Amino acid sequence: MEALAEWVAKRSFSKTIILTDNNTARFCLPVLSQGLKIRFHHITIASGENSKSIDNATYIWNQLLEAEADRNALLINLGGGMIIDLGGFCAATYKRGISFINIPTTLLAMVDAAIGGKTAVNIGHYKNQVGLFAEADKVFINPVYLQTLPERELVAGYAEVLKYGLISDKGLWDKLKATPPQTITEWKEIINTCVSIKKEIVKADPKENGFRKILNFGHTIGHAIESYSLEAGNKPVLHGEAVAIGMIAEAWLSFEKSGLETPELEEITTALQSILTIKWPKKPDYDQLYDYMLKDKKNKDREVRFVLLMNIGDPEFDIYCSYEEICRALDYYFSL
Ligand SMILES: NC(=O)c1ccc[n+]([C@@H]2O[C@H](COP(=O)([O-])OP(=O)(O)OC[C@H]3O[C@@H](n4cnc5c(N)ncnc54)[C@H](O)[C@@H]3O)[C@@H](O)[C@H]2O)c1
Repeated sequence: MEALAEWVAKRSFSKTIILTDNNTARFCLPVLSQGLKIRFHHITIASGENSKSIDNATYIWNQLLEAEADRNALLINLGGGMIIDLGGFCAATYKRGISFINIPTTLLAMVDAAIGGKTAVNIGHYKNQVGLFAEADKVFINPVYLQTLPERELVAGYAEVLKYGLISDKGLWDKLKATPPQTITEWKEIINTCVSIKKEIVKADPKENGFRKILNFGHTIGHAIESYSLEAGNKPVLHGEAVAIGMIAEAWLSFEKSGLETPELEEITTALQSILTIKWPKKPDYDQLYDYMLKDKKNKDREVRFVLLMNIGDPEFDIYCSYEEICRALDYYFSL
């Protein structure tokens, strides 16, 4: 907290605006404002993935105007990946770009969303269709915020932690694959490892022309599942949960197409299943899921491309899989 206060004090921002959702306003803003000790404007929106919309972006831009924020203003995004994606998008476009910092408050945002400069809003239920690359001026990670995070959110974020092991660090995978996140009391080292992996990948390919795609392991099917479930309403699957399901199905594709061996497929399935706390009540409509996959940004020529694993820690990307192969991968997950 001191580092943040010092960082802000050293710069002469004309105004500081803090963006939260209703939960981070309640649980995280009191912690932050205690340490920050400066005057700020507060903008808050409803929590949940449906809030990552152009309507809310317009609301935030209007609020910035009303607060008379000029080009020297600072926006602080205090929240999970939803606030960070939306707030980054608004800051990067308002008056052609103002300074913003990310203070992630979920595990998922600490290890992933807050790092790497991707900002976006959804179009309807299609994920991240409008956005731009814009690096936050600074990211301040403080695991203290995890103390109020609901367990389901912690578990969902842990799927992304395990993803780093699968795409880049077998040692991390071996260390964490049998460790339930609820039993972890010391997060700093784990978060730092994930952040270093992500930073290194982003540095090698900032605009995702190639290598950065490996971060999307589990996300081609995962995003489709997330969109499908958001459209279905009721109790949507969380992003991290959808990614965990996606990683199991894509591990099966890796076994079919990229030489991943049976014991590794079984190991991945067992580990991810043991951390998943939700099971879909019934099979989704595969055609509709496939339609969502066709909108994935990594595709070429209307062909769905995947990140697959040759071994644990050793991915390849841009791998085409047919509709039939994708259906068999989904069958694998839904038969477990
Ligand atoms: N930009 C990127 O590189 C990137 C990477 C991964 C995911 N994402 C995006 O991130 C989003 C998912 O992020 P998320 O899982 O953090 O979801 P989220 O931001 O919706 O937060 C999850 C829930 O936790 C609540 N919450 C947050 N912090 C809390 C705290 N400390 N205490 C109590 N409640 C708290 C929120 O209000 C919300 O209800 C998706 O939109 C996804 O597309 C972006």
